[in-house]
This record gives sequence, structure tokens and C-alpha cells, in this order.
Amino acid sequence: MKDVNAHRKRRAGSRARLLLGAACTVAIAVSSVAVATFAHADLTGPPGATLKAAAERSGRYFGAAMGGDRLSDQGFLTIANREFDMMTAVNEMKPDATEPNQGQFDFRAGDAIYNWATQHGMRVRGHTLAWHGQQPRFWGSLSSSSLRAAMIEHINGVMTHYKGKLAYWDVVNEAFAENGGRRSSNLQSTGNDWIEAAFRAARAADPSVKLCYNDYNIENWTYAKTQGVYNMIRDFKSRGVPVDCVGLQTHFTGGSSLPGNFQQTLSSFADLGVDVALTEADVTNASTTQYAGLTQACMNVPRCVGITTWGVRDSDSWRGSENPLLFDRNSNPKAAYTSVLNALNAASTSVPGTSTPPSTPPSTPPVTGQPGGCTATYRLVNPWSGGFQGEVTVANNGSTALSGWTVLLTLGGGQSIANVWNGVNTGTSGTVSVRNATYNGSVGANASTTFGFLANGSADTAPGAISCTSP
Ligand code: G3I
Repeated sequence: MKDVNAHRKRRAGSRARLLLGAACTVAIAVSSVAVATFAHADLTGPPGATLKAAAERSGRYFGAAMGGDRLSDQGFLTIANREFDMMTAVNEMKPDATEPNQGQFDFRAGDAIYNWATQHGMRVRGHTLAWHGQQPRFWGSLSSSSLRAAMIEHINGVMTHYKGKLAYWDVVNEAFAENGGRRSSNLQSTGNDWIEAAFRAARAADPSVKLCYNDYNIENWTYAKTQGVYNMIRDFKSRGVPVDCVGLQTHFTGGSSLPGNFQQTLSSFADLGVDVALTEADVTNASTTQYAGLTQACMNVPRCVGITTWGVRDSDSWRGSENPLLFDRNSNPKAAYTSVLNALNAASTSVPGTSTPPSTPPSTPPVTGQPGGCTATYRLVNPWSGGFQGEVTVANNGSTALSGWTVLLTLGGGQSIANVWNGVNTGTSGTVSVRNATYNGSVGANASTTFGFLANGSADTAPGAISCTSP
């Protein structure tokens, strides 16, 4: 396979200098559009006439990336508005853009893209929080321990600004080397647990957004790098490190670069209990077979939630000379567009939780208990056939801070916990105990925290006998 990263190497000399305006703290409010939700999947409905309509048939999205300069490009905006329902900022939410100087955040460029996208009914993927590229200059002069702290502060600052607004965040980008080990970088030199620390900080900063690990050259199941990332995600899931999704960038170079085992890679990650997404797709000369193949692979994996192309027209692409996108320089759809549209419309699987129309909401009055210092309140977040997502709020109604908490809840027959975040569970069925994670045991007076979980079984019976204790 041709090394797609030759592009990256050619650009190595021009490391990001995306300094956005004055180095002053600027926090322009993002518009108050809530994270949009989409119509439920209907695989039997008529074919979609646009990429987004075709993707939404199966509960998926079809996204694009845009730079801030495209906000005044009417040709771009017209296609983006018509065809896409998810948007990623090409550079504007990266660390050098959002925190040009330590503690001085600048969200103007990111907010401009966010506001345009959400005002046009799109959701937004955040890209990215921790990466060896496009770092703020000041990261380069910090000691390891200061850099670790700066990374966490960066995550807190940016995620707090966008709290509750984004659908996904690429928390960590491109942290693996081709040999399957970690890429050497200043972040890696802060300790092998830096990725885990980033995800834990991210969950605490915004529990509502899905947290992704994103990388390139992890599409071929037999590559060492793919296996390296897979093993990390498996380890994270087994230890309760909060990771919700894996982004496969999907930069293909034509020829045989679409691996025959791409679907196996997607389903193998999905089997670990994460969503997968194709996050930066582009293909040399927009090969129709490659585009159809990558789309089909996603459509065949229920937890493949969507596809994003890295730009809209060839003139928007970082690989522009290879004409790798779905629209030409005159804004016309190319043959690859049709091959993708057809593959989206031919989807035979839908994203879990989107295929059943909202059943009568199960009656789930909040169940509360207060035997000692804290109260725990359960709420059903999202039910689907055979499973559900729940959330428990641990509230401290007292006048002194909690220094740890434990919640007991009793699951109904047939219910079992599959995954817990922002807490550590003991047991998965019957009476389950969930204690605080290392980072959210301290709950101030009149404050609260939450943990979430995914469970198998019907949501019709709310977990009962819920209680909270604090030492
Ligand atoms: O804005 C400056 C401009 O003022 C200056 O004149 C010009 C001179 O080089 O540089 C401009 O900044 C460039 C920036 O893009 C905006 O165009 C940077 O040099 C250039 O390095 C930067 O490239 C970006 C690249 O990431 C950096 O790593 C690309 O636009 C962006 O598409 C690309 O995106 C990455 C993903 O984040 C991660 N996966 C790979 C993908 C493609 O490389």
C-alpha cells in the first residue's frame, strides 16, 4: 500500500502555525442549539436522494470537514447544507487554535464553524484535544509533568466550552506508530498512561459527548498498528477507562489500499463495545470501487455510526492534486458520489437504538434513596430493543464534601450491566455496587456527579432498591 503519509511528511516542514487572532482570552458563546437528534432509522423507506438522507435511513450520519475559510464560500456551503448532517472543523478546534497561550483560550474560529453547522441542522464532531501535531507553542517548552498538567487543563478548558454541544470528540489523535507501539512524542514522554489520563479527564469534563480515539492506517486488520490500537481499546474497556468510539481516518490511495478485511476490522473494534466511524475518508482519484467498498463495510457493521469525508470538493482537500473527494472543483457530484449514495441506500443493518421507533416510554419514575450522606437517582437515558443506557446522579445534599461514594442498585431479571463509566462496578446483575472512580469521589456540598452505564435486557423495569453511602 502506498504510504498515504507521504503527504504528511511533505508537510512536515510547515508544522501548524494556525495562530488564530490575538493571544487573548476570547470566549464567544456558541449558539444554544442542543445536540441534534435524528429521525429513527427506517430501512424500508424510500432511498435517500442526498448523502445525509441515505445515511439516516440506517440511523447513520454522513459528515464532512470544513475549514473556517469555507464559511464565506457559497459553493461549499450550498453542498454542505444539502448533503451533510455532521461537521468536523479541519483545524479550528485543534490545540494550537483553541489555546494559543497557556490558559488563554480562543474559541472564535471553532465557534464559527459550530454555529454554522448547528444552525443548519448538523451535529458536530470535535477534532482534536491531544495530538503530537498542531500543539500550542508553549507545550514545546514544558517539562513532562507540566505538559501532562497542561494537556489535562486543555481538555478541561475546551470541553467545558463545548459541554453538551458536540456528538463526538476525538480525544486523542494518532498516538500509535506503524509497528504497533506508541508513537514517540512529547505527550508519550509524559508516561504511557497519558492516553488513559486524557480520556478520564474528558469524561469528567463532559459526560454527554462520545469520546473517540482516532488514527490512520488502522483499517487493515492484520497491520501491527491496527492490533496495537485494538489491544489498547480492549484494555481500556476491561479496566473501565472511558472510551466510546474508534475513528478510522480511512485515507485510501486507490489500487488495493482498501483492505479486504476492512469490515472485519470495524466489527472487531465494535465487538469491544465501542462505536466505530470513518472519520477522514478520501481516496486517490475517488475510485468508485474503493468508495463503494468502504461505505459497504460501514453499512454492514451495526455500530459503524457514520462516515466523514475530509472536505467536500477536490479543491477543499489536503490531497487536492489527487482529486480524492466526492465533488469536483465545479461542485458537481462525481461517479464516486453515486457509488457512495447507492451503498448507503443499500444498507441492511442499522445503528443499535435507532431502528425501533420510540416505544411508549417505560414508566420510570426516579427512584431515590438516602441512607447516608448522599442520594442516588436513576434515570433512563436511552432504551432500545435488548438494552438500555442509564445514568445515576449522586448528589451531596449535606454541608460537607463527600470523600467517596458507593451506590447500590438492584437490576431486574434479565438485566445485566455491560459497561460503566465514571464509576467502578462490582457485579453485573442482581444487586450491583458502583463506587466512585479515582477522579470523581470528591463531591462538594450541594454538588453532584453522575455515572453512566449500558445494560443488556429490557428497560421496562427500572433498577430498584437504589441507595448511596459515603464514608
Ligand atoms: O494558516 C496558515 C497560513 O497562514 C500560512 O500561510 C500557511 C503556510 O504554510 O499555513 C497555514 O496553515 C496550514 C493549515 O493547515 C491551514 O491551511 C498549515 O501550514 C498546515 O500544516 C495545516 O495542515 C493541516 C494538517 O492537518 C496539519 O497536520 C490540514 O489543513 C488538515 O487538513 C490536516 O488534517 C489532518 C487531521 O487533523 C488528522 N489526520 C490527517 C489529516 C490530514 O493531514
